[in-house]
Amino acid sequence: MRGAYSPRWRPHAPNVSERGTACAAARPRVRAGARTVGRVTNEWCGWREATERALYGPDDGFYTRPGGPGPAGHFRTSVHASPLYAGAVATLVCRVDSALGRPDELALVDVGAGRGELLTGVLAALPGEVAARLRPCAVERAARPAGLDPRIEWRGGLPAPGSVTGLLFANEWLDNVPVDVVETDADGVPRRVLVRADGTERLGAPVDGADAEWLRRWWSPAPAPEAAAGRTPDAAVERAPGAARAPSRPAAPDAAPSPGLRAEIGRPRDEAWARAVRTLRAGLAVAVDYAHERGDRPPLGTLTGFRDGREVAPVPDGSCDITAHVALDACAGPSARRLTQRAALRALGVDGRRPPLALAATDPSGYVRALSAAGAAAELTDPAGLGGFGWLVEPVGGAGADLLGAVGAA
Ligand SMILES: C[S@@+](CC[C@H](N)C(=O)[O-])C[C@H]1O[C@@H](n2cnc3c(N)ncnc32)[C@H](O)[C@@H]1O
Repeated sequence: MRGAYSPRWRPHAPNVSERGTACAAARPRVRAGARTVGRVTNEWCGWREATERALYGPDDGFYTRPGGPGPAGHFRTSVHASPLYAGAVATLVCRVDSALGRPDELALVDVGAGRGELLTGVLAALPGEVAARLRPCAVERAARPAGLDPRIEWRGGLPAPGSVTGLLFANEWLDNVPVDVVETDADGVPRRVLVRADGTERLGAPVDGADAEWLRRWWSPAPAPEAAAGRTPDAAVERAPGAARAPSRPAAPDAAPSPGLRAEIGRPRDEAWARAVRTLRAGLAVAVDYAHERGDRPPLGTLTGFRDGREVAPVPDGSCDITAHVALDACAGPSARRLTQRAALRALGVDGRRPPLALAATDPSGYVRALSAAGAAAELTDPAGLGGFGWLVEPVGGAGADLLGAVGAA
């Protein structure tokens, strides 16, 4: 079943119609309180808090519920797409190892490790001599899965600052770090979006403080938080999950923001990434995710739900994944560089080109194997799909700045 699932990523350029019309058409508006879904608390809160409970609640969180299928039960990441991905990470582990002078103990920390699939694949792909020195560590809020390779340490939180020498890798972690959502009201004032567990939304207070500052700096065209001074929240206009929002176009940079613009405040992700990088004493930190750039943020944001392999309206009741594209440019520290997954994997030897036809005559089964690997590599490097993901690469302690070769920044 897993193979039938698609990645969570969608091109964000046509996001307006995806969020604004497609979802709205599929779901009628409901009266507030008319529908109850899962653990409805009837309490309004911001999306960050609602997502935190929905994804990571101890008993019934989407990711943490005991016996749940894990990420692979709902969508497909690069890790699930092909063992070539773990092979590429193994190549990167070897390069980090060389750059660090082959230490007695080399850490591989996988943040947001799912069910440990990447670590398992890397252990299988590494040369025995490197595997023998590797300390694989999964950082994951879900419980350790049964039957996992006993060499893999499993922990619920990051290691202590400065305690790791090696590679820290986070594939599709940051998009699941909960964020608040803002929306401009009828006067163009950005307000925090409040949501209930059934997905009904309304606008709350104007955004201020550090969140307003983050928006001003990183979300362009930035809603103008200072326009909110002295205003009170709109009357409680409630909307069903995925209900239509207008307009579909951002205001010109010098004009007052239009009503209905949405943005996700990526500040918790910047902080989470900075904490992850700080765990390294020496080595390389890599975050891989679907991303957008300042100046190219989608006007209606990217908050989305996924369930059973399909994109659904985001409803914070624990029944679906809740995710949003990552502002990787905002997460990047001073020594970071960014490139596409296509560029990164090519630098690590993953190539989607077909094998030469002549091989079919001399080694037919080798040709079939090479053809299948080329197909998997093509999926991982497709610029319109997984290959368009962003890699944020951050060296710590001097080693590792050039481990992905002289590839251009994304
Ligand atoms: C989309 S899944 C990705 C799983 C895996 N990395 C992959 O690529 O297949 C995100 C995972 O991150 C985990 N996660 C989210 N926030 C976390 C945190 N603060 N610490 C540890 N794990 C976290 C979730 O529980 C979930 O398993």
